Amino acid sequence: MKAGYLQFKPELLKPDDNTEKVKHLINSFTNEFDLLVLPELANSGYLFTSVDEAIRVSETVGTGIFSKMLAEIAQKRNVWIVSGLCERAGDKLFNSAVLVSPKGEFKTYRKTHLFLEEKLWFSPGNTGLNVFEINGKFGNVKLGIMICFDWIFPEAARTLALNGAQIIAHPSNLVLSYCQQAMFTRAVENRVFTITANRTGTEKNGNKELYFTGKSVIVDPKGNYLSTAPQADEFIDVVEIEPKNSLNKQVTSMNNIFDDRRTELYK
Ligand code: ACM
Repeated sequence: MKAGYLQFKPELLKPDDNTEKVKHLINSFTNEFDLLVLPELANSGYLFTSVDEAIRVSETVGTGIFSKMLAEIAQKRNVWIVSGLCERAGDKLFNSAVLVSPKGEFKTYRKTHLFLEEKLWFSPGNTGLNVFEINGKFGNVKLGIMICFDWIFPEAARTLALNGAQIIAHPSNLVLSYCQQAMFTRAVENRVFTITANRTGTEKNGNKELYFTGKSVIVDPKGNYLSTAPQADEFIDVVEIEPKNSLNKQVTSMNNIFDDRRTELYK
C-alpha cells in the first residue's frame, strides 16, 4: 500500500486560498498513492484570536469548499484522504479530521484533547476514537485517526490500536519540538504504522505568534522512520507499507503487547 502525507503551510483565515493551494499541490504530485494525510486545520490556519474568526473560516463536513475539493480529488485519483479542518456543526465548532473515500464519502473524527487556546474556540471532540475500514487494491485495512496533541495521551493511540487500527493517521500543527521523536514510541508500543502530517511556517495574529515544526514523519511498527520531511519546506512523500505487519503484536516468543497487559493493576 502506498501511504504518505502532504506537509504545507496553510494561510491563516484564508480557506479559499488553502483550498486552491492543496488542490494545486496534490494535482502537481503525479506519483500514485492510496492514502494521503494532510495537517490539522488545513483549511483555516491555526492561530485564531476570537470565536468569530474561527466561525468565519469553518465549514460543514461534506458541503464546504475544502471538503468538496478533497472529495473531487479522492474520486478522480481513486484514493483515501485524511485532512484536518475547522468544522462547524450547528452552533458548535470542532477541530476535526475527515476521512474522504474514493467515492467522495466522509467520516469525521473530532479532536479529543484540545491544546491551549483551542479550548476557547472549539468544543471537545465527541466522536470517540473510532477506527475506519479502508479498502482498495491494497486489501482491507483499519485506519485510526488522532489529531496533533492527542499524541501526548498514550491512551489515544492505544485505544485506536486496541480497536484494531493498523495505521494511525495524525494530522498535526505541532508547536512543541518532541512529538516527532515520541511517535517512535506510539508506533512501537502499539505495533502500528503512524503518519504524522505536520504543517510548516509561522503564524502571527495580533500580538500572538506561533512557529510550527514541520518534520512530518511516517513510522513503522518496529520504530523505523520510513519518511521524515524537512523542517520548513512544503513536502509530499509517499512510501510503500505493508499494513499486515501491524497485526503481529508478539514482541518476543513469550510477550504479546496486548495479551500481557495487567489491566487489573492499571488503577
Ligand atoms: C496542537 O495540538 N495543535 C499542538
